[in-house]
Amino acid sequence: MSEEKGSDKLIDFKEVSVSFRQKKKEIEAVKDVTFSVKEGEILGIIGSSGAGKSTLLRTINRLQAVSKGEVTVGGRSISTLKSGDLRKLRSNIGMIFQHFNLIGSRDVYSNIEFVLLENGKSREEAGKRIDELLKYVGIEDKKHAYPAQLSGGQKQRVAIARALANNAKILLCDEPTSALDAETTEAVLNLLKQINRELNITIVLITHELDVVKEICDRVVVMDAGRVVEIGDVYDVFTRPVSEFTKTLIKKENKFVIPGNVLENARGKIIRIDYFDENAERALIAEAIEEFGVRINILHGRIEFIKKKPVGVLYISVNGEPGQTRDALKYIKENSGKMEVIRDA
Ligand SMILES: Nc1ncnc2c1ncn2[C@@H]1O[C@H](COP(=O)(O)OP(=O)(O)OP(=O)(O)O)[C@@H](O)[C@H]1O
Ligand SMILES: [Mg+2]
Repeated sequence: MSEEKGSDKLIDFKEVSVSFRQKKKEIEAVKDVTFSVKEGEILGIIGSSGAGKSTLLRTINRLQAVSKGEVTVGGRSISTLKSGDLRKLRSNIGMIFQHFNLIGSRDVYSNIEFVLLENGKSREEAGKRIDELLKYVGIEDKKHAYPAQLSGGQKQRVAIARALANNAKILLCDEPTSALDAETTEAVLNLLKQINRELNITIVLITHELDVVKEICDRVVVMDAGRVVEIGDVYDVFTRPVSEFTKTLIKKENKFVIPGNVLENARGKIIRIDYFDENAERALIAEAIEEFGVRINILHGRIEFIKKKPVGVLYISVNGEPGQTRDALKYIKENSGKMEVIRDA
């Protein structure tokens, strides 16, 4: 993992649980969660609806108190902070949401100004800072527009500017692109990447879009029913998931099947190859043909990139003498990430 970012624990969850009482029933939304967020990374959180993702995120700035365990930020336990220190912590942690949470009755300028004034800035200082921020997020021309006059992407840029106004070191994002179309999502993700890289802001991002995780996260946490069921480097989790829950989640999204008519018309054995890591760049098919004298047709396939590393799926048909075919399949199996016989004709 040569690309690994800083190893210092910036946020640390230690055996964190959060319970809610609802009509005399106790709901444990977060259960015994232990992991840490490294300084400078972009960490994704995925999982089913109701898994406890938002609740966990809200414990980082104490919008949500923990019932058990401890959250530390920058080495400091936050549960005992007094109001002054808590305010300081919160001003160091920006937060953005799916529906932007802008104040509709105020223009862009005053949506940002109030968090600066609250933090003790003068009007003049605030004005300078707002110009700087709007330029950074690319909407200087919208300074006096009202939220209703902005596109979704522009609204999220205002929310990001506001979240960063007091020089936040951490940005918490709860489904930041879920209300945006694909193109706008891409633009907002690029902005988040830029913020992470240029301002060294650590980002914790909840999403239900696995593509978002693949595109910008360094590591990912998978939650199911209040628990963390998996945590790891994004490439590793998507290519070699360990927990059953993650496997199902990824499979659902990765349903890359061979079209029925292609399957019907193909002759010979049909094989699906999932390839990743060093295997993805190897000329495996060419090697198999040359080595074993079999005929191989590529029927269907695709390749994608996670953190610039390739991951692919390939459907092929293999024809030849039984012995040669068997040896060729053995060779492919040993040299690819995963191989599955779809039709053993
Ligand atoms: N303030 C609250 N009072 C009572 N129950 C709550 C409260 N907040 C959350 N819950 C419950 O806690 C559980 C986890 O909710 P949470 O919002 O953290 O899930 P989530 O993973 O963010 O889901 P989604 O993907 O739908 O946003 C749910 O069962 C939810 O109903
Ligand atoms: Mg949520």
